[in-house]
Amino acid sequence: MLVLGLESSCDETGAAVVEDGRTIRSNVVATQHDLHRPFGGVVPEVAARAHAERITALADEALAQAGCSPRDLDAVAVVNRPGLVGALLVGVAAAKGLALAWNKPLLGIDHIEAHVYAAHLAGFEVYPHVSLIVSGGHTCLYRVDAPGSLELAGQTRDDAAGEAFDKVAKLLGLPFPGGPALARCASAGNAHAIEFPRCGPNEKPGDTLDFSFSGLKTAVYYKLHGGARGKGKEPVALSEAQRADMAASFQEAACEILVEKTLSACARLKLDAAAVGGGVACNKRLREIFQTRAEAAQPKLRVFFPPPALCTDNAAMTAGLAYHRLARGEADGWELDVDPTPKRRKVRGK
Ligand code: KG4
Ligand code: ZN
Repeated sequence: MLVLGLESSCDETGAAVVEDGRTIRSNVVATQHDLHRPFGGVVPEVAARAHAERITALADEALAQAGCSPRDLDAVAVVNRPGLVGALLVGVAAAKGLALAWNKPLLGIDHIEAHVYAAHLAGFEVYPHVSLIVSGGHTCLYRVDAPGSLELAGQTRDDAAGEAFDKVAKLLGLPFPGGPALARCASAGNAHAIEFPRCGPNEKPGDTLDFSFSGLKTAVYYKLHGGARGKGKEPVALSEAQRADMAASFQEAACEILVEKTLSACARLKLDAAAVGGGVACNKRLREIFQTRAEAAQPKLRVFFPPPALCTDNAAMTAGLAYHRLARGEADGWELDVDPTPKRRKVRGK
């Protein structure tokens, strides 16, 4: 079965054709980084407008690269939750138009579940496993038993991991998007120059599977402003070497938190496989720390990282996950709507 997937939940427009949930026939992404860079962050209205300008041409491109015509498709799938409301609306309207014109079933897909599915799409034999999703808007741990069958085990209480990278990058004067810029800057620094906190003052790392990055972000802010009394004042001037040390020390702390929580989840849930997804999963230091800590903690533990193109936002993971709903005979009606807020409840069986 061939599914055309569309993605427009944040600042990447994506279209992809995936066969039987696993063979990527095409996967095209139009990034909006250049449009948002002057503003230092994603501007929702700018994102929605750019999606509207690009999405149908991108769908044509995905079909052309896949070597198929609309007639060959079995369904049109689209991310309808969670994300920026205006951005989601563009994708859902485009998917409805195409599905109606081509007389195909329409499927609405959860963006976080699609990130979880990226490990399956990458060809790994993962089930059952712990999935760590670390993106610009979400930081969650799930127990995953099958495609789309997941149970929330932990999530962030404040900032998402990618958001923390982006905000600290901004504090350090690095350009948008902050995560990759911070990782580049960190590569020249000493990761142990500053020992940033890994957990709250009265906490031990294994106490909870929930995350919190606000303390770490504040610690970087204070370091840059010469302590709590420097709040609101100009940051201290940093040499390039000091900035690299600060970036590397922050990255080390953030990555260690993510790895330790994931290993705790594997131990608590008695699972010997973990997969990582979302934009922050592109981080090389995160991948290294995972490999070394996992081997030391649990020699049998397998850790899977999809290739970077399947970690950042893309429509292939949307089309791939939709195949499993389609195979069960499911489809959504024309009343399919967007839902910008993530589900906080346990999500089993969808
Ligand atoms: O999954 P994604 O593409 O979009 C969302 O669904 O949010 O993730 C984007 C996030 C951004 O916060 C970006 O700064 C971060 O992933 N990111 C990184 C790296 N590459 C992207 N963070 C740290 N290191 C990287 N190499
Ligand atoms: Zn995402």
